[in-house]
Order: sequence, then C-alpha cells, then structure tokens
Amino acid sequence: MPTDSFKSRIESQLSRIYEAGRRKSLPSPSYRHLSSNDYLGLSRHPSVIEAIVKTTASDGAGATGSRFLSGNHPLNGMLEEAIADFKGGPSSIVFSTGYQANISLILALSTIYPFIYSDSHNHASIIDGIRLSGCQYQIFPHNDLEALRGMLEKRPLGESFIIVTESLFSMNGNRSPIAALLNLCDEFDGILLLDDAHGTGTLGQEGRGGLEHASLAFNPQRIVLTGTFSKALGGLGGYTVCHPLIRELVLSTGRSLIYTTALPPGVLAGNLEALTILDENGELVENLHSRVRKVREAIGLPISSSPILSIKGPIEKLEMISSSLKENGLLAPVIRSPTVPVGEECIRICVTNHWEDTFTRLLSESMIKAQVLL
Ligand SMILES: Cc1ncc(COP(=O)(O)O)c(C=O)c1O
Repeated sequence: MPTDSFKSRIESQLSRIYEAGRRKSLPSPSYRHLSSNDYLGLSRHPSVIEAIVKTTASDGAGATGSRFLSGNHPLNGMLEEAIADFKGGPSSIVFSTGYQANISLILALSTIYPFIYSDSHNHASIIDGIRLSGCQYQIFPHNDLEALRGMLEKRPLGESFIIVTESLFSMNGNRSPIAALLNLCDEFDGILLLDDAHGTGTLGQEGRGGLEHASLAFNPQRIVLTGTFSKALGGLGGYTVCHPLIRELVLSTGRSLIYTTALPPGVLAGNLEALTILDENGELVENLHSRVRKVREAIGLPISSSPILSIKGPIEKLEMISSSLKENGLLAPVIRSPTVPVGEECIRICVTNHWEDTFTRLLSESMIKAQVLL
C-alpha cells in the first residue's frame, strides 16, 4: 500500500499538470480515427504485409541488439540505399524512430554548427534534440523569413548555424518556404535541417517530399533531411539523408542510434517494400491529392495538396465539432497547448487514401452545426 507522502507527492504533481491543462489520456480503440498518418494506406498494403511476415519467419521477430552489435541486419543497408536514392541524396542512416533521428542529427550537427534557429511550430523531437544538444538557439516565428533574417544578421560574427524546419508542418498542415530558407543558408553560410516526416509520400507529384515540391535538387553541403517510415510509408523507423561525412559524424556521436535496439528485420523489409511501392506507383500520390482537393473544397478550406486539415475556431465550437463526430464513431480531438501554441487550438484531420465520403459529410455537417464556417 502506498504511504501517504508517496501518494500526496504524486497527486500534487498530477494536480499541477492537470491545472496547467496538460492532462493526457489514451483514446479508446473503438473509434475510427480521423488523424491517421497512413496517408497512402501502405500500412495495409498486401505486399508490405507479406514482406513483413516472410522476413519475420525467416530472420526472427527482433533485431537482438543495437546496430553497432548484433542488430545490423543487411536490410538496414539496403533501406539506406533505397531512401537516399528516393530523396536524391548521397547517403543515409536508418534509425529506430524518426524521433531518434532528430535527436542524433541535431546533437551531431551542433558540434560543428553551434547556433540553431528553429521554427516556432517545429515538432517535439526537434525541440528535444535542441535542448539535449545544449547549444545556443533562437526560435523564429512560424515561417517568418524577415524575423529570421533579422536574427541571422545579429548573430555572433561568422558563427555557423543550422536552420531547422519541417517541410509539411504536422499540426497546421502548411509548408515551409524551403527555397527562401536555403537562400538564407547560402547568404549567411549555414545548413538547413529539413524534417520531411509528413512531406514524404504527400508532397511533390511523386511524393518525394519537400524538395520535389519546391523543384530543388539535393545539395548535401546545405541540406540534411530527416524523416520517418511511420507516416505515409505505413511502418516504423526513422532516417536521415545527408552528406557521407555527416553520416560518419552521426555514426560516431548519435547516442539515440548507438544506445538503442535496431529495427526488427520484418519491419525493415516492410519499410523497403513500402518505399518500392511508392517509388513505382505515382498514382497513389495522385489519388491522395485528388481526395484532398475534394475534401478541402467540400468543407471550404483553401485548395492545397496538404492532406493535413487544421480546423480552427473558438475552443467551445471545436469541442462541439469533436463531440458531434464522436457521436458518429469518429475521433478527432481538439489539439490544445502545449502541443500547439495557446490561441492556435485546432482539430487536426488527415485525409488518407482510405478516407470515406461519409467522413466528409459528417465533418461538414458538424461544422455547420457548430457554426464554424471556413
Ligand atoms: C514532424 C515530425 N518529426 C518527427 C516525428 C517522429 O517520427 P516517429 O513517429 O517515427 O518517431 C514526427 C511524428 O511523430 C513528426 O510529426
């Protein structure tokens, strides 16, 4: 039985968390989620599943160790080659998650670029990577090039730096101005760390991500990409695509790569199959873009190829939309601070290739009922 002081310490900490509006609870699995990141439906593709099952049967369920010990299954190298080719870059490293990829990349890069400029809407894995690196950083207002330029002009003389941003922002679904950010890197001699987690499979005609969408070639002296196999590729695992020298640096310093178990062989095989399918089937991306267009038109959001829909409005109205969807078995919770900044609460909905017309109807009915007109 817990002692009183044990209980009261935890309970008072929990009250502080709840009072700050930071209570988290796990959703019931009985609802259908409108926020799945399986944009192309690849998590359920028969050949992906077959690759996972076959490789698991032949090579075992687990990796058995870190990539630096017994866990470096040959599929790691094959997947690295495939993702580097897909992104048009020279080399790659596969990680156990995208979160870990950001942690190691930022840690490694900060040893040569000691100043970081980070977009205010960046994902928690980027924020945590910056905090862990212990380097100096500044947050620039979301996509605000003028503010960023002002910060760069005022930085300590000649200090080299990283600008870090996402190609497609996970919460509000808009894109970053990649070409303009690269121009700033050229002008002030920095490097761009681009998190392509949500851009992969969704941006560009062939789904190659932010660079394809912006018609930019991969310049390995100015760009480092990170991403994940867990969203449009439907699996699990992270990656970086970068200059081979940066790869070497990360291999020797990336603690979230060195001190963790590698991906199981079956997961690697599934990721490789999903990537091959995406590479060879442009119609998957075309299909997604046309669905996104239809849903955006139906609910009055600006037309864009971004499958992430961010519905904004007063919290009470967002709650009404969320409850009304829930009554119909659909889960689309209101996203609050600290996941999004205060005042930017939203309902985040992701359109995927498994999206159904009834979702559009229920969504637009609930928005009309709550009088949230976009
Ligand atoms: C922008 C961004 N970066 C990184 C990650 C982390 O990827 P993973 O889920 O593979 O850890 C996510 C998602 O969770 C994300 O949205």
